[in-house]
Amino acid sequence: MIKWFESIYEGSEDVKVYFAPGRVNLIGEHTDYNGGHVFPCALELGTYGAVRPRKDNVLRFYSMNFSENGVITSSLDEVSHLDDNIHHKKDDWAKYPKGVLWAFAQKFKKGLINRGMDILYYGDIPNGSGLSSSASIEVLTAYIIRDMFDIDISLKDISLLCQYAENKYVGVNCGIMDQFAVALGKKDHAILLNTASLEYEYAPLKLKNSKIIIANTNKRRGLEDSKYNERRSECEEALRRLQTVINIDTLGDITKEEFEDIKDVIVEDVLIRRARHAVRENQRTIEAIEALKSDDMERFGRLMNESHLSLRDDYEVTGLHLDALVEAAWKQAGLIGARMTGAGFGGCTVNIVNENYVEAFIDNVGKIYMDMTGLKADFYVVESGGGPVIL
Ligand code: GLA
Repeated sequence: MIKWFESIYEGSEDVKVYFAPGRVNLIGEHTDYNGGHVFPCALELGTYGAVRPRKDNVLRFYSMNFSENGVITSSLDEVSHLDDNIHHKKDDWAKYPKGVLWAFAQKFKKGLINRGMDILYYGDIPNGSGLSSSASIEVLTAYIIRDMFDIDISLKDISLLCQYAENKYVGVNCGIMDQFAVALGKKDHAILLNTASLEYEYAPLKLKNSKIIIANTNKRRGLEDSKYNERRSECEEALRRLQTVINIDTLGDITKEEFEDIKDVIVEDVLIRRARHAVRENQRTIEAIEALKSDDMERFGRLMNESHLSLRDDYEVTGLHLDALVEAAWKQAGLIGARMTGAGFGGCTVNIVNENYVEAFIDNVGKIYMDMTGLKADFYVVESGGGPVIL
């Protein structure tokens, strides 16, 4: 990192290097903006940042992953005066760190961030793959700023600040899961987070003799271009209709039985299916944690599979590529559970596979996927990792 920094910005005195992870969500998909539970873990893959403070108020950003964009220059004045709710598409990838600086300017007193900086980023998370490369760069930037300006902000509040940046500056109406999982990751643990109360607990990831394999469809996903925001408003509309007959704050507040009793008030089939996914996925997530706690991997895997079916049929966020990868996985020996992970519409799947079958799994699924789609899938056998650190 330091060598790269020198080659772009010259000199390496006072440069510090930081890291923040990506995340994979094991179960609890599209529940985080519906007041439900999620169960992600941080990864060892992530984003590195090499940073040097400046004497003036200039900000310079460079990403090894987007070297074609060169150095992107801005200033503290520019980022703090931008209007809320503008989607800064022209900033390219730099909208993420700029959004975080903008959020600090919105939420903290003036003059707290009083020097510019030169930052170089490098990430080994495949971009747009559903492993939260954007939350990773956001949380990394916030963590750097906290350290550099000695700001009193907790990791939890860092995650909320970054979600605010993503909602208001980047323009994606995401929930809290990604930023939270990245900021509060803990090695060998997944995080059970109640997104309504933000209460959370760490669950040891005792996968016994199995491994987590992430498979990338290599079909890129752009959250902004996807139907993400549309799904969110569909759920909000379904909730409003349910609230005419039941006193609830979110779709996470009802059981699937209660939902079945009152669902007809929603009227439209498509809205009923969206809400049904949110309600059932939340219950599945709670059940999955119990399964993990009682060492019942088979049940955990079954719940993952059911999650995928619900995302495919009721929530309709999978599509040809994700379905092909997951359906190929389901046929393999040693498979415990497989589903899409993240927002969907392309990106990655997460698979739990008996360690004796890992190679055969990768070979077979890769071949079937290639035959069905003409694309090469990439596979990563991953370990869960910790949160942001100074290296
Ligand atoms: C994206 C969003 C998250 C969450 C997932 C779907 O990753 O950023 O907030 O909604 O999709 O579970």
